[in-house]
Amino acid sequence: MEYITYEAEGQIGIITINRPKALNALNSTVLDELDKTLDGVDLESIRCLILTGAGEKSFVAGADIGEMSSLTKAEGEAFGKKGNDVFRKIETFPIPVIAAVNGFALGGGCEISMSCDIRICSENAVFGQPEAGLGITPGFGGTQRLARIVGTGKAKEMIYGARNIKAEEAYRIGLVNNVYPADELMAAAKKLATTIARNAPIAVRNCKRAINEGMQVDMDQAIAIEEKLFGDCFESHDQREGMAAFLEKRKVEAFLNK
Ligand code: CAA
Repeated sequence: MEYITYEAEGQIGIITINRPKALNALNSTVLDELDKTLDGVDLESIRCLILTGAGEKSFVAGADIGEMSSLTKAEGEAFGKKGNDVFRKIETFPIPVIAAVNGFALGGGCEISMSCDIRICSENAVFGQPEAGLGITPGFGGTQRLARIVGTGKAKEMIYGARNIKAEEAYRIGLVNNVYPADELMAAAKKLATTIARNAPIAVRNCKRAINEGMQVDMDQAIAIEEKLFGDCFESHDQREGMAAFLEKRKVEAFLNK
């Protein structure tokens, strides 16, 4: 791969967007490689992913403006779909994905972080949707996910005004869960991923589906989704072991993802 590196560290997979000369901007090749990387993750052994950007300055500075500059309407729509398809794959990926936002997260960079389950960032992170200043709308889900995460009023203020915000404000409005000094960010991401990976994998996957799918429907349907996913955990080795360990006042021997 030209622009993506992937490393497995035990039960954690780390995907790094590696195009630092363009501040990790997302061109078609980056999107294709990201898609292939996700398809290649070994879901038998990996229990949590971390997504980050190469270098100290930028997570992802957006979709590639050079590539977009001469697109026709139809090509623009297709490029939006290309990004949206990959981001939706991240959002619905069976295991949790943590965005470790290490600098600029603008446009497509803010959008890819919002398709992850949890965002944490470094003190130098900057978030924003600058698209209106470039003559376009956010095109990789920004109009939808930012409004859902921080509320429509704040999302509209940021998007209409093309106003970037710093890490502290991103924390205050709930766009990120935590802010760390830059040199502590990856350790914090790995610690969080390890905490998640320690829990029963089928349960964690079902929790992700219950939250994501439940948020899209009314409460009666949402509760029905939860009931199914709750029931689905029973009779698994990991449910039996988790509960037996509690009742026998001992530690879980191992969750086996079955
Ligand atoms: N696309 C293509 N190239 C980009 C880029 C992008 N989104 N962002 C940065 N780069 C490139 C620059 O062109 C520059 O390349 P050269 O060295 O070849 O000139 C290199 O990365 C370094 O960038 P700067 O010199 O601009 O660095 P800086 O420190 O002065 O500024 C920055 C950093 C504020 C992030 C600035 O680069 C910037 O504003 N980038 C664009 C951010 C943006 O508007 N993103 C939204 C894109 S639109 C989008 O994402 C649409 C969508 O929703 C799908």
